[in-house]
Formats: sequence, C-alpha cells, structure tokens
Amino acid sequence: MEKIVIHGQKRLTGEIEIHGSKNSALPILAAAALANGVSEIHNCPRLSDVDAALRILEHLGCRVRREGHTVSVDSTGLHDFAVPDRLMREMRSSVVFLGAILGRTRRARLCTPGGCEIGLRPIDLHLLAMEQLGAELREEGGQLEFSAPGGLTGARITLSFPSVGATENVLLAAATAKGRTVLHNAAREPEIGDLADFLNGCGARIYGAGDSTIVIDGVAQLHGASHTVIPDRIAASTYLLAGAVTQGRICVKEVVPAHLGALVPVLREMGCTLSVSGRWVCLSAPPRLHRVKMTRTMPYPGFPTDVQAPLSAALTVAEGTSVVVENIFESRYKHASELLRFGAKIHVEGRMEVIEGVDRLLGAQVVAPDLRGGFALLLAGLAAHGETVVRGVEHIDRGYESPELLLGSLGADVQRICEDEERTAKTEPADTEKPDPGPQAAGERQQDR
Ligand code: UD1
Repeated sequence: MEKIVIHGQKRLTGEIEIHGSKNSALPILAAAALANGVSEIHNCPRLSDVDAALRILEHLGCRVRREGHTVSVDSTGLHDFAVPDRLMREMRSSVVFLGAILGRTRRARLCTPGGCEIGLRPIDLHLLAMEQLGAELREEGGQLEFSAPGGLTGARITLSFPSVGATENVLLAAATAKGRTVLHNAAREPEIGDLADFLNGCGARIYGAGDSTIVIDGVAQLHGASHTVIPDRIAASTYLLAGAVTQGRICVKEVVPAHLGALVPVLREMGCTLSVSGRWVCLSAPPRLHRVKMTRTMPYPGFPTDVQAPLSAALTVAEGTSVVVENIFESRYKHASELLRFGAKIHVEGRMEVIEGVDRLLGAQVVAPDLRGGFALLLAGLAAHGETVVRGVEHIDRGYESPELLLGSLGADVQRICEDEERTAKTEPADTEKPDPGPQAAGERQQDR
C-alpha cells in the first residue's frame, strides 16, 4: 500500500505539461477493438484505469504494446465477446466496451461495471440505446448478454440525459450498424469529439460530435488508425487549483484552453489572474483566495462535476462563504468529511455544499474516498500547515499520472511512500549492517514518524 506525504505551505511556481485525457483514452481504446486492424494511440496517459482497459483488450484477443505514451492495439485476432467480472469491476468506464464489442462481434457479455463510488451510477441509458439499435438483451444473475445476430440497425435515439458514456456507446455501436443513426440530446464533452475523430480516422462517418445532435452513417467495417488523445482538461483544472490554493504562479501547457472555459471565470472570481495563449494557461493567485458565490456542476460546457471536489478543497481557505451545487452525481461529497479533518468548515445538505473559508488548515491523516475527492485531499495538504498523509492513493492513480512528481516539479514537498517497504525497514534489527539507504529513503523514514 502506498501513501502520499505532504508538507504544506509551499508556494507552487513553474510550468507543467498536462497528460492525455483519461476520459478520451478509455473510449478510444475500446474503439480500437471495434476497428479491425492496428491502431496507434499517442498521448495515452499512464494511469491504472488505462491499464485496466488494456487488460480488457488483451482478454478479448487483441495484441497490446505500450511504449512510453504510445499504445498500439492490434485487434485482428479479437475472438472473445465477454468481459469477465473481475475486469469489469476494475472501473466503471469498462461499460464503454459494450458498444465496441457488440459492433464488432454482434454479441457482448458483461456484468454491471465497477468504478468510483459516487452515488448511484446506473447504465439504463446504455442498455436502452443498444436495444434501440436492435440488440436483444438477456439479464441473468448480474450478467448482461446482448445479441444482434443480423447486426445492428441505425435508429433515432433520444437520451433522457446527455450521458457521456451512453453517447460513446451509441457512437461505437452505430458506427458499423446498417443505415443512419440520429442521436438527440447527446453529451457534448470534448472527449466525445475526440472519440468521433478517432472513429472517423478508422473509416466511420460521424457528423456533429460536440453538438447535441449527432448523425452516424453506418459503414461495413472500420480499419485501424493513428490518433493523438486530447489533453486532460480535468487534470489541467486540478493543477490550476493547486496553484490557486498555494498562492502560486503556475502555467499548465499542452492544454486546450477552450476546454477550461467553465473554470476560468470561477478562478477569476477567486481573485486569480489568468492569461491564456495557444496551448497554455497561466495562473497567478492572490495572497488569499476569494469565495465563489455559487458554482453548479452541469454537463459540458458547464462546470465539470469532476472538478467539483478539487474546487471545494481550494474554497476551504478562501475568504468568505462559498456554495457548490452538484447536479450530475448523487453523493459526490465524500471528500467533505475528510476535509473536515484539516479544520475545514463544510456543511453538506443534499446536493448542496456550503464552505465557510477558514484562515488556515492543519495537516491531517486522511483517506482518498474516490479519484477526484482523493486529489482534493492533496490540495488541502498543499495548503495546510504541517504534515498531511493521504492514503487510498490507488484512487488518485486512476486519473492522475505521477502527481507527486508534477507537484514536486512545481516546488511542493510531496513524497510517495510504500508502506510495506517502510514496515520492513522498521522491523529490521537495529544493529544489522545495512547499506546506506541514501538521503531520499532516510528522509522518507524520518518524515513518516
Ligand atoms: C463520465 C466521465 C466522468 C464524469 C461524467 C460526467 C468517463 C470515463 N467518465 O462518466 O469522469 O464525471 O462523465 O461528466 O468519461 N446516468 C444514468 N443512466 C445511465 C448513464 C448515466 O442515470 O445509463 C446518470 C449517472 O448516474 C449520472 C449522470 O447520468 O448521474 C451522468 O453520467 P454519465 O454522463 O453517463 O457519466 P459517465 O459516462 O459514467
């Protein structure tokens, strides 16, 4: 088990490059199973959720190779249509393999997916859409079995909510369906456009991705393609908030500033100065952040639910009282009770969180409740006086590549420590002659007392 130890109150300065988007890479990897041939995915982040997707691809019979941030997927030998429970449960986004497998093999078997525990996350919209495309669904003991022996057929589909995952599944399944699919009330997140760009590169005919109506003209078969994943707008937002909460001056580069459109005015309301140019966003934070009157999470282009927890953490030290309303997920405030351990003043009622800014946070021992909530605790640790220990780091690793290195490069005092190694070191007899552990290891032990 690993933990992250932070000594807070260091002002972050400098620039960092933002990695590729997790939420784009996952459906694109699923799409690589639909496209028959070899695909090369560049800027593919090194994250545990991506590793889980690669394991699913391998299980299906694809050959997968990773070199740095490029993943190559050869789906020529794909032979399986079932994703075993253990792989499905590793992450919720595994449900996006449904449209890909069904489109490629005309069958799919999977169980209900796992992932972050952020309230009820049903997949009814996905299932309904697959049925509208002509798949027959049988449910037995938690297993979902889909079949479309004659292939899928294009349809008019209206989502009752612009679900990101359901939109992706429709794009995947309809890409090789017979005839035209028109999808209304589609999600408009940039990751939808990125998936459509990859699919179109593979020979699909998808029009209007990024708008709320998408038209998909089915083609007989897709071939592999090369694609570069868009930058991770959620990671970029989170690191900007790290700059904000430490009175920092930082730049995030290799980003698409337009994708941060909902965050920029909120950061300005918090008193930060922002400058945007090309693929950069630079932030200079005031000595004390200002409160934000009201932030509501909404589907894109609204304020992203994935940035809600990091924003809440930053607002705990703002001057005045802020209100945040979570409209996308139920119970996405699991970070709030952990933030209280730092001395934050937060009150959650239903979908509303009221944050009364305090003068200072004090370092705490906390556990990451989920991916974004986990990073929110890192932000609190960066702002806090004294030492913070964050456990449950595996949640954070699902969506942020080496956060301790990126934050460290900006001047934060952050270390990742393997608790098992630490325990072993502690139980070794004191008089045994041991090789010099080096300054880094010695420092780690000392800090962790
Ligand atoms: C994706 C993102 C996630 C982000 C979310 C909302 C990925 C891998 N994950 O998740 O980071 O927080 O979009 O921006 O891209 N819903 C239903 N029935 C369904 C599907 C969804 O009721 O069949 C509800 C969900 O419970 C939730 C809301 O719709 O309340 C939004 O979910 P959705 O947009 O589908 O999110 P995900 O695709 O799971």
